[in-house]
Amino acid sequence: MLDFKVDRDKCISCGGCAADCPALIIDMQAGYPLIHATKEKQCYRCQHCLAICPTGAVSILGRDPAASQPLAGNLPQPDQLSTLIRGRRSVRRYLDEELPSELIDELLATAWHAPTGHNARQINFYVVSDRNVMAELREAAYRGIRENVENGQLPARLSFFRDFVPAWEQSGIDVIFRGAPHLLIATAPKRVAAPEADCLIALTSFELLAQTQGVGTLWNGLAKWTFERIVPQLRSRIAIPADQTIGYCMSFGLPAMAYHRTVQYDAAPVIRIKTLGPADD
Ligand SMILES: Cc1cc2nc3c(=O)[nH]c(=O)nc-3n(C[C@H](O)[C@H](O)[C@H](O)COP(=O)(O)O)c2cc1C
Repeated sequence: MLDFKVDRDKCISCGGCAADCPALIIDMQAGYPLIHATKEKQCYRCQHCLAICPTGAVSILGRDPAASQPLAGNLPQPDQLSTLIRGRRSVRRYLDEELPSELIDELLATAWHAPTGHNARQINFYVVSDRNVMAELREAAYRGIRENVENGQLPARLSFFRDFVPAWEQSGIDVIFRGAPHLLIATAPKRVAAPEADCLIALTSFELLAQTQGVGTLWNGLAKWTFERIVPQLRSRIAIPADQTIGYCMSFGLPAMAYHRTVQYDAAPVIRIKTLGPADD
């Protein structure tokens, strides 16, 4: 049941909602939008109808358009967003301090608005918010890696993990988690259209927003490999169900340092497609 409602006092019959509906299930009838009961199943639940209505006349899924954030005047300037994208850096040194749980929840609530294939919205955010749990996870990870090394079971392509164990056990250098107090693991069911992409886009959104709050992040491929390839028992201990793909992992926390300027990469290789080659047939 979509609970699609139109406030006829506010509707100006512009047809914007019908034109924008990706599933093409909104019809204009006698000047007002309508979704036939037979078409409800095709709805993406994307709420474009609510978002596009200039007068806030359309409600769907029980949402009150007045509770949405207005966009006009509330978006960042292009140069600010560009500086954010260019200025974000991988943080590999963290303060031994926990972030407030409310801040983590706020970041995740917004990251949850990132687009997903076919609007699947099936991502799970597994988050370590307690640094004592992070410490336990860290110890278990290095112990598990050491056992793999001792048993000669480290996958050949991940043999470089061997060096991480003495670095941690003898020198306290945490190459995998970089001493971050928190870890975020984004997962999605294997059956959805684009599980990996969905997770990566959500984590990218998380990372950028985190930076505006002074929170540092690190894309953590080493953690992902640890959970998937080396110490899968940890995946079970975190209780990630077998039907889930680990999209990616991200360490985060308060940085122990600050970056003062953007870096200067070479120009992006942009290839303009001006002609198409001959068709195969
Ligand atoms: C998918 C992905 C996985 C990464 N995995 C790790 C990792 O496991 N450990 C690490 O220290 N850095 C990791 N990085 C960080 C990259 O090394 C880093 O993004 C790159 O050197 C550029 O630096 P910058 O992020 O500060 O711009 C990863 C980055 C990406 C995008």
